[in-house]
Amino acid sequence: MTDFALIDGELHAEATPLARIAAEVGTPVYVYSAEAFRKRARDFRKGVEQAGRVHLAFAIKANPNLAVIRLLANEGYGADVVSGGEMARALAGGMKAEDIVFSGVGKTRAELAAGLDAGIGQFNLELEEEGVVLAEIARSKGLVAPATLRVNPDVDAGTHEKISTGKAENKFGLPIDQAPDIFDRLAPLEGLNLRGVAIHIGSQLQSLEPLEKAFVRIGKLVAELRGRGHTITHVDLGGGLGVRYKEGDVPPTMDDYGAMVARVTKDWDVELMFEPGRVLSANAGVMLTEVLWVKPGVTNPWVVVDSAMNDLARVALYDAHHDISAVKPSGETFVANVCGPVCESSDVFAKNREIDTVKAGDLLVLHSAGAYGATMASTYNSRALVPEVLVSGDRFAVVAPRISAESIMDQEPIPDWLAD
Ligand code: LLP
Repeated sequence: MTDFALIDGELHAEATPLARIAAEVGTPVYVYSAEAFRKRARDFRKGVEQAGRVHLAFAIKANPNLAVIRLLANEGYGADVVSGGEMARALAGGMKAEDIVFSGVGKTRAELAAGLDAGIGQFNLELEEEGVVLAEIARSKGLVAPATLRVNPDVDAGTHEKISTGKAENKFGLPIDQAPDIFDRLAPLEGLNLRGVAIHIGSQLQSLEPLEKAFVRIGKLVAELRGRGHTITHVDLGGGLGVRYKEGDVPPTMDDYGAMVARVTKDWDVELMFEPGRVLSANAGVMLTEVLWVKPGVTNPWVVVDSAMNDLARVALYDAHHDISAVKPSGETFVANVCGPVCESSDVFAKNREIDTVKAGDLLVLHSAGAYGATMASTYNSRALVPEVLVSGDRFAVVAPRISAESIMDQEPIPDWLAD
């Protein structure tokens, strides 16, 4: 049994009833299935291995929980990190330093130095000056920094504007037409082993077309760089593969993605790297919540749940859709709005949605919450920081406890000079 399914009329994570987790840990709570992560990690690997030997770096921004990192490290994954904090997590979770790629448009000098000290596998450079500084720091330490240039291929990923990264006007990467000259200037620097290029055009892609278009452009760039005498051994194709959030979503399969990559890259003769995030994690998790009230509304009733936009920000931020279902569905449905207790009109998880009929005290889940869920949570409205649970078969572990508003308050000293 994998994923989240009804067993005897009751929603389970693998063989564990979600109601048991709610009773023991409380709600709201994120629940992950270890088996679901493993399955996706293996399927993704199988897909892209059609292209030969590959390096897999989980984009840990999608789900940086240490237990999740350990699980994926056990599957042979490294990490794509975008901060010193994420690098520390990847290492603490058991990923090998050489399997860590450091991406991000604003790495600090301290982060570059920390990456060098840790011996991470690759820095994806976002601008020429960053390469100059990285080379300098590496030289001062007697080290050589393995690096690629992240280029912006100017391709429309066809996804939500706020998660698009590969258009010329986005802040990410170097303009692809300037990349060869920048490569010429950076490659000779002592302290830098500029060995390839990287891209990432956006997230939640529902079509392979923009990816293929971008990869073809990268192939041409690799040929041009080689034509200029550069040795290109690595190409990082980023992440971005979309998942199913709702009925009607038909994201490309991992197998089709791998087949496309194999076809486009067959003559490249490089080591390919990937940075999947959402595709490994989104559907490996749910957020479990309890109905507090069913409040009459003008058109539909409001189902007020005990989770809110601070626990799962995706709906408020990107108008994202998360399927919602009852842990013990009665078979009846009604049309309702589902909202949290936070004092913002954007704290609404669903409007005018046909869902299982529920009443106060019932449990609901928001599906597909394993990616960009807990990690984007906050304590807005002085709510507790939402906990996380990892299930394996019929056992589960709290892999991040609920952090109470009181314990956060304990970290906030009132200055003496306000005392009287
Ligand atoms: N590599 C880089 C350089 C990235 O910026 C990202 C995601 C990934 C890999 C992983 O992309 P994925 O495979 O997960 O699509 N919070 C948003 C998503 C932001 C994605 C940011 N970058 C959401 O909840 O939809």
